[in-house]
Amino acid sequence: MRYIGNKENIVEKIHRIMLENGIDGESFFDFFSGTTSVAKYFKEKGYTVFANDVMYMSYCLQKAYIENNEEPQFEKLLSVIKVENVQSLFTRPIDLVVEYLNGIPSVYGFIYTNYTPEGTKHLEKPRMYFSAENGARIDAIRQQIEKWFNEDLLSENEYYILLACLVETVSFYANVAGVYAAYQKQWDPRAIKRLELRTIQFLNNGKCNYVHNVDSMSLVPKIDVDILYLDPPYNERQYLPNYHLVETIAKYDNPQIHGVTGMRDYENKKSSFCNAKKALADLEVIASEAKFKYLVMSYNSEGIMPQNEILAMLSKYGEVKVEQFEYARFKSNNKGASKTKRTVYEQLYILKK
Ligand SMILES: C[S@@+](CC[C@H](N)C(=O)[O-])C[C@H]1O[C@@H](n2cnc3c(N)ncnc32)[C@H](O)[C@@H]1O
Repeated sequence: MRYIGNKENIVEKIHRIMLENGIDGESFFDFFSGTTSVAKYFKEKGYTVFANDVMYMSYCLQKAYIENNEEPQFEKLLSVIKVENVQSLFTRPIDLVVEYLNGIPSVYGFIYTNYTPEGTKHLEKPRMYFSAENGARIDAIRQQIEKWFNEDLLSENEYYILLACLVETVSFYANVAGVYAAYQKQWDPRAIKRLELRTIQFLNNGKCNYVHNVDSMSLVPKIDVDILYLDPPYNERQYLPNYHLVETIAKYDNPQIHGVTGMRDYENKKSSFCNAKKALADLEVIASEAKFKYLVMSYNSEGIMPQNEILAMLSKYGEVKVEQFEYARFKSNNKGASKTKRTVYEQLYILKK
């Protein structure tokens, strides 16, 4: 998934650096989990995994990829819905459900009404986040998932798995250049293809894994893990406005929206890690109060917390080291003044208590 700070392409390298520094264990907490790329990687390595993120869209992914260990069977649902054109005997139950959802009639609901040019033609600038067809497809699929859940045809697990499929799918059809803070004024070719819901893959590590959807700071007193991994925002840009529409599709809570982009309110979802002073203060609370053997923090050489202050603070609590390597920046950041800077480093702060 396209997501600022997604570590999918560098998580292996991060792990290698951790091993070179003698960092190992049995439990791993992905404290700012986003797409769950890091949590998934360590789940695959056999760790007991804990994950958290303040975004609900991330929670849907965490439930499906991290907490869930099973290939869902959809027994109740498949006993009442009829799926045409079954391809083969080996088709998974999830494939049947997704195929069914891809065939249901469109619904002209919240997404169509607020984020497609047809639905918003009364506005001075009609919104072009999704084509009319895809906006109505998203409404149909999202409402159907909710209806099945309310009718007790889906287990909680199956419900989040279908939401995760939808969260993963929409970014392939959104008419945005990376983030949802703005839509493009011309149609991207992928945005005008008919939306087809995609399935996801499942992972079983044979362990109980735990996921959360709260402000990470509220979990600090409860943590007791071998490796506490932090990947907080590194600049002032809050995540919610950048992914407001995916969040709204995941929650489907008919929020009050405003402005040219139809943004949902995020006043009480602001991250302290987007403010240098508060970030350093909260990092100190984590370093001093959480129980862990190793704290590993991914950061960026252009991050708002200065390196010398991070090092000075962390070294009060144990042995500290910083490793760094070059890394291409996220595409939509690649504008403006900082474009002239030559190299950006991905940094790894390591604290051994
Ligand atoms: C750099 S991204 C993490 C990316 C993730 N490692 C990945 O590979 O996709 C930072 C994440 O922190 C979350 N976040 C920011 N402040 C938070 C807080 N106080 N509590 C929980 N999550 C927070 C954001 O929603 C965002 O998903």
